[in-house]
Amino acid sequence: MKQTILVTGGTGFIGSHTTVELIEAGYKVVIIDDLSNSKLEVLDGIEKITGVRPDFEQVDLRDKAATEAVFAKYPIDGIIHFAASKAVGESVQKPLLYYRNNIISLVNLLELMPKYHVKGIIFSSSCTVYGQPKPENLPVTEDAPHQKATSPYGNTKEINEQIIYDTIHSGAPIKSIILRYFNPIGAHPSALIGELPNGVPNNLIPYVTQTAMGIRKQLTIFGNDYNTPDGTCIRDYIYVVDLAKAHVAAMRRVLDEDTDPIEYFNIGTGKGNSTLEIVETFEKATGVKLNWKYGPRREGDIEKIWGDCTKANKVLGWKAETPLDDVLRSAWKWQQKLRQDGVM
Ligand code: WQD
Repeated sequence: MKQTILVTGGTGFIGSHTTVELIEAGYKVVIIDDLSNSKLEVLDGIEKITGVRPDFEQVDLRDKAATEAVFAKYPIDGIIHFAASKAVGESVQKPLLYYRNNIISLVNLLELMPKYHVKGIIFSSSCTVYGQPKPENLPVTEDAPHQKATSPYGNTKEINEQIIYDTIHSGAPIKSIILRYFNPIGAHPSALIGELPNGVPNNLIPYVTQTAMGIRKQLTIFGNDYNTPDGTCIRDYIYVVDLAKAHVAAMRRVLDEDTDPIEYFNIGTGKGNSTLEIVETFEKATGVKLNWKYGPRREGDIEKIWGDCTKANKVLGWKAETPLDDVLRSAWKWQQKLRQDGVM
C-alpha cells in the first residue's frame, strides 16, 4: 500500500520539485497550498513529468478547520512542510503577517498530527538560523551556535524549530527531521517546473536569468568589499532537484526507521561559491554575456556561509551530486521556456 505524504506549499519552488521526487519514489502525494505565491498550473508540470497529477487542496493553513478537513479526507502518513512566507525583506516590513502565517500554520499541523495518526513531519528550515558563523567554524555543522535572526523571516525558522522540539519533548507521539537548507537554485531538467518569483526577484539566480533574458536591465552584485577572495559574498548553492531528493530520504527515514524523535541535517553541497563566481560560471555555462555592475552591500547580507553536510551524507545516504554549471544551465533553460510559453 503506497504511503501518503501531505506536501504543504507543494506548488512552490522546492515543494513542486519534492512532489516530483516523492511520486517517482512511489509515494502518493496530496498538496495543500493557498496559491498566494504560486500557480495551479504547476500541477500540469508535475503531471507531465511524472504521469501523475497529485491531489490538490487550496487551503490556508492558518484556517485550522479547513486544514483538519484535509486530514480527515486523506490517510496521511507523513508531512513535508514547506508552506511559509519567505521574502526576507518583506518580513521586515510586515512582521506580524510572517509570525501569523509561518507559526500558526505549523502549530495547526502539529496539533492535528496525533489526532489523525500522522507519524512524521519534515520541516523546511534554513541555514539562516546560523547567522554569520565565525570563519573558524566554516563549513558550518548542525551543532554550530544559532545567532539572533537578522529578519522576522529567519526568526520564524528558529521559532518553528523550537516549537517542534518542545512538542516532541512534551511526549507528542510524532517524529521530525529538520532540514536546514543553504541556497536552493536551478530547475527540473525538463524545464516543466522551476522557480517563479512574483515581481522583481530578491534572490540571485532568478535575477541573473531575468537579466540574461533582457527582462531586467542590469544585475547588481551587492558589495565587493567583503573579506573574501574576490570581495563578493559566498554562499552554498544547492541544486533544487538534489535538495528534493534529500526530502525523500528524510521522509523514508522518519516513517520507516527506528530513529531519535527529532534529527537535524544541513542540506547543501559543502562548497562555497562567491556571487562573482556564480556570474562568471553562468556566462561560461550558457554562452550568455550578463550586464552587471558592482553596487553597495545589501542590508542584512552575511559575508560567507557554506555547510558541512557529512551528516546527511552518512545518515541519510544523500549527497548533492550536480555540478554547478549544469545547475545554472537548468535555470537558464527554465527561463527560456518561460519566454517560449509567453509567461515572462
Ligand atoms: C545570494 C547572494 C547577495 C541578488 C535568502 C534567505 C534564505 C533563503 C534564500 C528562502 C547574496 C547576492 C543577490 C542580487 C546579489 N530564503 N545577490 N545581487 O540572501 O543568501 O538567502 O534566500 O528560502 O533563507 O536568507 O539569497 O539569492 O538573495 O542572495 O549580489 O540581485 O547573492 O548579496 O550574497 P540569500 P539571495
